[in-house]
Amino acid sequence: MTGGGDDLPAAVRDTDLELVAIVAVAENGVIGKDGEMPWHIPEDLRHFKETTMDHPVVMGRVTYDGILEAIGEPLPGRTTIVLTSRDLETPENVIVADGLDAAIEAAKTAAAERHGGTDRAFVAGGATVYEQFLPAIDRLVVTEVHDDPDGDTRFPERDRDAWREVDRDNRDGFAFVTYDRRK
Ligand SMILES: NC(=O)c1ccc[n+]([C@@H]2O[C@H](COP(=O)([O-])OP(=O)(O)OC[C@H]3O[C@@H](n4cnc5c(N)ncnc54)[C@H](OP(=O)(O)O)[C@@H]3O)[C@@H](O)[C@H]2O)c1
Repeated sequence: MTGGGDDLPAAVRDTDLELVAIVAVAENGVIGKDGEMPWHIPEDLRHFKETTMDHPVVMGRVTYDGILEAIGEPLPGRTTIVLTSRDLETPENVIVADGLDAAIEAAKTAAAERHGGTDRAFVAGGATVYEQFLPAIDRLVVTEVHDDPDGDTRFPERDRDAWREVDRDNRDGFAFVTYDRRK
């Protein structure tokens, strides 16, 4: 990460990993409804897959359960690090973490031992996990969905001045946008 986040555990604040949050968010801030995404955008699912492939991906237990339900297995080709207070039984490509520092340590180990020494880890939600990691996030990879759907889960408020748009790819009904944290 690149600074800030005084309340964060030291392992998160001082990590050498580049922390990238990846999210699809509607104009009203909605990211989820009833444990699922409120839309079905196959191009976005492909974009998520291509962007995160061969990296550690940190997510909350509710999001993890949603993925298991949707595709019947954890994300192939990635190490999923699931934040939970529960004692989950998980397959080999999933690591359980009981806090942010444990999640970052697991991401670091997975990056070195399973993903060719990449220096990047993704934070893939849901709202509780974005909220906790946001002060440590270096880059936001956002699918901006041009819609105002009903939902029960929102992306946390962020200080727009803290982020600089560095890439935009406009599509039909949505855009892939990358923001870097201003130094
Ligand atoms: N649009 C998008 O890009 C996107 C991305 C991701 C998710 N979503 C949506 O967001 C919704 C889920 O988000 P959510 O906020 O409800 O749930 P979530 O963040 O996915 O999961 C919450 C759970 O994570 C665990 N957790 C979080 N922080 C923890 C910590 N510091 N230590 C230990 N455990 C921790 C707890 O699990 P336990 O209860 O097991 O302890 C908590 O109940 C779904 O609708 C999903 O589809 C959307």
